[in-house]
Amino acid sequence: MRAFRGLSKRINLKCFWCLLFNRHNATDGVLLQIQQNESPNNKVRKTIQKKRPACSVVLHHFDQQYSEELGDLWPSARAVLLNPQSWQYGVMLNRFSTVTDITDSLLSLGFSSLLTQTTVSSLPHNGASTVSNSKYPEGQDTFSPHHISECSPEDFNLQPEVPFHALNQDPRSELDLSLHHSSLQCYVHPRRLRFPSQAHRDGLLKQYYLLNAASLLPVLALQVRDEERVLDLCSAPGGKAVAIMQSATPALLCCNEPDPHRRDWLSKTLESFLPRSLNNRVIVSAQDGRSFGDSETGFYDKVLVDAPCSNDKSWLYSSSEQRGEQRLKDRAGLPELQAQLLRSALSAVRRGGVVVYSTCTLSNSENGAVVETVLKDFPEAEVEDLWEEIATPLSKCFTFSSQAACGQMCTKAPPLLSNSTMSSHSHRLGILVVPQPDRTWGPMFLSRIRRK
Ligand SMILES: C[S@@+](CC[C@H](N)C(=O)[O-])C[C@H]1O[C@@H](n2cnc3c(N)ncnc32)[C@H](O)[C@@H]1O
Repeated sequence: MRAFRGLSKRINLKCFWCLLFNRHNATDGVLLQIQQNESPNNKVRKTIQKKRPACSVVLHHFDQQYSEELGDLWPSARAVLLNPQSWQYGVMLNRFSTVTDITDSLLSLGFSSLLTQTTVSSLPHNGASTVSNSKYPEGQDTFSPHHISECSPEDFNLQPEVPFHALNQDPRSELDLSLHHSSLQCYVHPRRLRFPSQAHRDGLLKQYYLLNAASLLPVLALQVRDEERVLDLCSAPGGKAVAIMQSATPALLCCNEPDPHRRDWLSKTLESFLPRSLNNRVIVSAQDGRSFGDSETGFYDKVLVDAPCSNDKSWLYSSSEQRGEQRLKDRAGLPELQAQLLRSALSAVRRGGVVVYSTCTLSNSENGAVVETVLKDFPEAEVEDLWEEIATPLSKCFTFSSQAACGQMCTKAPPLLSNSTMSSHSHRLGILVVPQPDRTWGPMFLSRIRRK
């Protein structure tokens, strides 16, 4: 509770609860900004409510496209996109920092674990990091004495971790276990409760990362194992890279970002969450992602293509109608770039390796259609169905629809087809998280492709 007490002290309690529970009706274009006060001793946080109308040209475009593509799901998804105050935030814990106190705070506030609900609750010491790899000297990191006694200074080279579940095996299916085995921990609240973000403190690792919980799904689908070589092709600002490092200890994680400004942001994220002992495993690269297929053919076990895409949430709040119009024009060029990135990823992965393609848009032309186009050039690649593995176990928290070939949408799982019938209209090309009231996660599309 130490960190939470610290936080509570810094925040006037009444104000804190106002911040956490944003109880407002859905009103178009009300933006809630929570800012760290610039007052001298930084003691108070305040909310500023700014009215900004949604960009009508973007909204009109979305209405036309998404009512056709999403059908009945669109009106409620639209209401969520138009009400930023309704957005929920997940809290991903950082296993390289002590998280016990944060876990206690989260649980007492009514958060629950997204990924290990049954497993973690049955364990005596939920939420504590099982292995810490930080090289930071005592007092500079937030290790508990318990962790220090578990990791002697010589243990700074990385040890395979003991997953929670290994202590408590049960006979569930392998697919189901793939979600439960991960040491990735994220807490979510059933309502719009926003845990305060943690400011940067020199020399200290952050304990948690606030994110749209659906952002973790591409990382889960990637199924990174210890000692694999992983490429995060479009990496900034680094949320998924941090999540990858929570779920396993790869031999190499190459975080690629060509935009210099965003690359700085990425480096800062990695510095804030990962101990220096990982510096030899996590590298930042600055290439155009389209070149990896040629320069590092077949080198990686896993590649994540979290592609640049239409950002449905932020585009609705474009600073002007002209800006919105420009974005819609630029949108037309995105599928080609996305296809090039996906092709490059499929060339950079070894045979038997896996590429996960993801976006944060609802748009089929940037999602299933891109996957479908690229698969035509890669007869040795096949889409793996994520419905049973990810959508079914997480359907209590997220609303999924699947994107099938030729843009066909399904909100229920269509019958599974063998891989040889991949061109069938009902074969799923990926799954899509559609934001809905009280489960505002997404938009997030993901597709897993294995190179045979
Ligand atoms: C959706 S964001 C990635 C978010 C990131 N994966 C995360 O979880 O924090 C897409 C990123 O792709 C980058 N990008 C744009 N063009 C690219 C290219 N040709 N090659 C690689 N990355 C590119 C953008 O600068 C942007 O940072």
